[in-house]
Amino acid sequence: MVQHFRQYIGGEWVEGERGESFERRDPANGEVVATYARGTASDVDRAVAAAKTAFASWRLFPAPKRGELLFAVARLLEERKEQFAREMTEEMGKVISEARGDVQEAIDMTYYMAGEGRRMWGETTPSELRNKFNMSIRKPIGVCGIVTPWNFPMAIPSWKMMPALIAGNTVVMKPASHTPRSSIRLVEVFEEAGLPAGVVNLVMGSGAEVGDAIIGHRDVSLVSFTGSTETGLDVAVRAARQNTRLSLEMGGKNAVIVMDDADLDLATDGILWSAFGTSGQRCTAASRVIVHRSVQGQLAERLAARAAGMRLGHGLDDTVDVGPVVSRPQLDSIAEYVAIGQKEGARLITGGAVATEGDLAKGHFHQPTIFDGVSRDMRIAREEIFGPVTALIPVDSLDEAIDVANGVDFGLSASIFTADVNRAFRAMQDIYTGILYVNAGTTGAEIHLPFGGTKATGNGHREAGTAALDFFTEWQSIYVDFSGTLQRAQIDPVQGVSS
Ligand code: UN1
Repeated sequence: MVQHFRQYIGGEWVEGERGESFERRDPANGEVVATYARGTASDVDRAVAAAKTAFASWRLFPAPKRGELLFAVARLLEERKEQFAREMTEEMGKVISEARGDVQEAIDMTYYMAGEGRRMWGETTPSELRNKFNMSIRKPIGVCGIVTPWNFPMAIPSWKMMPALIAGNTVVMKPASHTPRSSIRLVEVFEEAGLPAGVVNLVMGSGAEVGDAIIGHRDVSLVSFTGSTETGLDVAVRAARQNTRLSLEMGGKNAVIVMDDADLDLATDGILWSAFGTSGQRCTAASRVIVHRSVQGQLAERLAARAAGMRLGHGLDDTVDVGPVVSRPQLDSIAEYVAIGQKEGARLITGGAVATEGDLAKGHFHQPTIFDGVSRDMRIAREEIFGPVTALIPVDSLDEAIDVANGVDFGLSASIFTADVNRAFRAMQDIYTGILYVNAGTTGAEIHLPFGGTKATGNGHREAGTAALDFFTEWQSIYVDFSGTLQRAQIDPVQGVSS
């Protein structure tokens, strides 16, 4: 029996206004996984109205009590981790160990932000006048629009919901249409934990209808978006017209640097994991390997041999290394980039084709693919592919490696493999990405540090960590004058101070 899921508006599970629905199929075998109510712009209107009403009381519910609710949610997520992970694998394709990691990331974020309910520190600071007290406090902003992608179906919604809620905001969320179920599970758990009606609302449907309605809504005070650069830049233009606070998390073209003194076995492990984990569909995926020419041949050989031995299949089979990609258009786009790479003169050393043997033909599988002899100007070295494809770019020095690493439009993650501490610190100083790893691949960010990137990856905000609170709260500076007189800052002299 295929389960049908509805939207969540004002504390009720409801069908879309037009009564339509859409289905999601398992990308590994084409079987229908679930059907979902399709939302409309007027569903968004109702969700925003519910969130606006709920904001009036939620913002005043003490933050430590909001935190207790998040702790209860985290415990429920822990209890259901296995179920939620399996459902995610069926819906999105990532292998089960990674789906467990995705749910774990949401659990971590929920616990972390729950604790912020008893912190969320502001500042107290001296006043330049006598008998006056100064402080700054964080305040919620209002209704938050949350638009999330399919590649981290539970983790990324949690990165946005948890800081939004702990700070006292209310939420209207739209999950990616490939993966609504993980967001629905999050909302169900909140309902079970006793979240008041209207604090979280979930509307499903297309970006063009539901996403646009959220972003364009005048009662939505903030939008947090993760997705493609193309869509993100459109969102930015629309948000700017209404002065909506906006956080964008978009593309990456992340590089691993392998120096001549690197532990090549470790580098091989790190590259394979960060290039082919989640079938390369991470914003943080290693889609470039900048390798010192003196170890290029050895590294290429190890990578090609290991990649060729990776097993493709359904992610629920725990002997599988690489699952399907999310959809047919995604597969087509990856195949197109592989063709572009070949046309540009890059040398294919392993993979390079859509995988169709046996049962793989039923799903959207692409072989782990590595190009060698790639030059920094080729499109496969500059554009985000979002699939299991990586490109080896040879260089002659650390300076050149750093220059190539920085020489793309994006700036999310980078890494360097080296045994030389001085080189590691040079990389930390000179590589301009939001995230940098030493002797590890480009993936694996932990939730209590800022997550995000420079340049075309984002618009300057960071998710996760306390940095997330900077986005989901507004500062209020408060001056309390208890002198009983008019004291004019910058103007009146302070008695007892010689000047
Ligand atoms: C993403 O690809 O958008 O660091 C998120 C990582 C994960 C999160 C990736 N913790 O790879």
